[in-house]
Amino acid sequence: MEYILFVIIAYLLGSIPSALIVGKIGYKVDIREHGSGNLGATNAFRVLGIKAGIIVTLADILKGTIAVLIPLLFDVDLNRLIIGIFAVIGHTYPLFAKFKGGKAVATSSGIILGINPLLFIIMIITFILSLYITKYVSLSSMVTGVISTLVAIFFQDISLIILIALLTIFVFYRHRENIKRIRNGTEPKIKWMG
Ligand code: G3P
Repeated sequence: MEYILFVIIAYLLGSIPSALIVGKIGYKVDIREHGSGNLGATNAFRVLGIKAGIIVTLADILKGTIAVLIPLLFDVDLNRLIIGIFAVIGHTYPLFAKFKGGKAVATSSGIILGINPLLFIIMIITFILSLYITKYVSLSSMVTGVISTLVAIFFQDISLIILIALLTIFVFYRHRENIKRIRNGTEPKIKWMG
């Protein structure tokens, strides 16, 4: 019963469409109609600029972090990783934005921040290095997923390894269009790094 309550809270939190809210309220722009059309931090950077991009990134990360921290406020023995997955599902299929949301990257990293901050730091470093080398946000997101899954093995926590592996598979699935664009050379590269 407790699980259901925390899962619903996580899903609703994840469903808050930060990129849509920041775009509409701050810039009178619906970012679903611009750039990649994705309701995520990368498209917020692309369409609205650095300030909006940072706000959306932090908000999307925090959705995952808060979802896995809430159960700690209560005296319950639950697998918080499973609860966190529902924040990611909310982010990608948001109740408050016609079930068309982001690509699972920032909110997934937010769960890891709330569960294993050291692994989160490793993820950020991996992402930045990959972005510096490849200039593709999408590819860097996928590379970070794979590396994080491998690094998780060193923490010897089987549920953490399984969760990150599942999230990484989901991130690849959500990046199907990006993968096609990378293959045919039409995926946009970032211009402001290196
Ligand atoms: O996190 C999403 C990112 O990896 C790709 O976003 O807008 O370039 O499809 P976008």
